[in-house]
Amino acid sequence: MVKPVVVPTQDELDLAQYSVLIVDDAPINLGVLVQFLESYGLGIRVARSGESALRRAHYDPPDIILLDVLMPGIDGFETCLQLKANADTADIPVIFMTSLGEVEDKVRGFEVGAVDYVTKPLHHEEVLARVTTHLQLRRLTKMLQSEKQQLQVTTEQEKARLFDAVKQQREQLRTLNTRLNELKEFEYQQIARELHDELGQTLTAIQINLSAIRKDVNGHLSPKGEDRLAETETLTSQTLEQIRELSLSLRPPMLDDLGLVPTLRWYIKRFGARLDIKAGFTTSGVVTRLASEMETHLYRIVQEALTNVAKHAQARNADVKLTFLNNRIRLAIQDDGVGFDPSKLHLKSSLQNSGAGLLGIRERVHLLGGELEIKSTPNTGTLLNIEASV
Ligand SMILES: Nc1ncnc2c1ncn2[C@@H]1O[C@H](COP(=O)(O)OP(=O)(O)OP(=O)(O)O)[C@@H](O)[C@H]1O
Ligand SMILES: [Mg+2]
Repeated sequence: MVKPVVVPTQDELDLAQYSVLIVDDAPINLGVLVQFLESYGLGIRVARSGESALRRAHYDPPDIILLDVLMPGIDGFETCLQLKANADTADIPVIFMTSLGEVEDKVRGFEVGAVDYVTKPLHHEEVLARVTTHLQLRRLTKMLQSEKQQLQVTTEQEKARLFDAVKQQREQLRTLNTRLNELKEFEYQQIARELHDELGQTLTAIQINLSAIRKDVNGHLSPKGEDRLAETETLTSQTLEQIRELSLSLRPPMLDDLGLVPTLRWYIKRFGARLDIKAGFTTSGVVTRLASEMETHLYRIVQEALTNVAKHAQARNADVKLTFLNNRIRLAIQDDGVGFDPSKLHLKSSLQNSGAGLLGIRERVHLLGGELEIKSTPNTGTLLNIEASV
């Protein structure tokens, strides 16, 4: 059966740019074909054995190979297998020249990696058509491959650019965050001082005046007047207490004056007393003052973590340990409460609009250049481990 002949148009392919290696042990039969192909501009080379074809394909790869099946030495199939096994020649399309009626040869040809076959006796127009078609196919495949590579390069470049941009923005955000934290702390400090010094002093003065009045009237007050005076005394001392509390919780002045360790000791004692939790604080190593920014971050981290213990843990015990190592500091906050599953946090935070606490802790640890580890599973309590260079 003669296959239909499709000759691609000449302007689609400049045949003069391509070379064909014809492998046949009896090239005498090929004279007319060679002339015919050359008349279309194709560069023709001839090899007389499989071995010679392999050598030539290796040193000067042709664009396509026309390969005879039966040859002395290694036959066409073996030649094709070896061409396909070598990365340098694997891509060269191979067309077998098989004898009419040898169906198994045709099948075997495809099995060993050929792209096509032509039937002997050769029909020149058909050979040209098949050669041109496969040259065209190869050219298009190569174009596609290089476009794909180009696309990959562009995507990689774009990814790298976006990655850089995101990294830069995160750094900017971090700088802003540091600045914001500093400002916030400064403001807390100012308000705390003002509450304590201004309002606190005024209320203390009112308290002193009230006790002077009580002395002056010496019990000579109407019952209504006595009630009013007593109520004013109570209100004044309650408000004074509230203002002290507010001032302390905004930013305890002892954090600046005495440092982290005394402040934590005071804070944790107060925390335990208020919530009826056994709250412990221990230090180990040589206690030293740290940079003010670091002391603030660590104090705020403990505050946030203990607030979580109070809010979520239902714990009976909470322990804070601060370890001073050589050039490093380690902070551990542990409770024996209900625990939680850290991997499900993002779900919870998106549903309940919470999660600023742990996020804030994470951010502070990052600003300290340290590491945070959260160990928690339901019903085993929670442990937060923080370590940073001093
Ligand atoms: N010590 C803890 N014991 C049990 N669950 C905890 C503990 N700490 C955190 N969690 C869980 O992790 C979640 C996230 O805590 P996070 O502090 O980030 O947010 P939040 O406390 O819910 O809200 P907020 O933004 O007010 O802090 C909590 O809702 C809670 O389920
Ligand atoms: Mg919280």
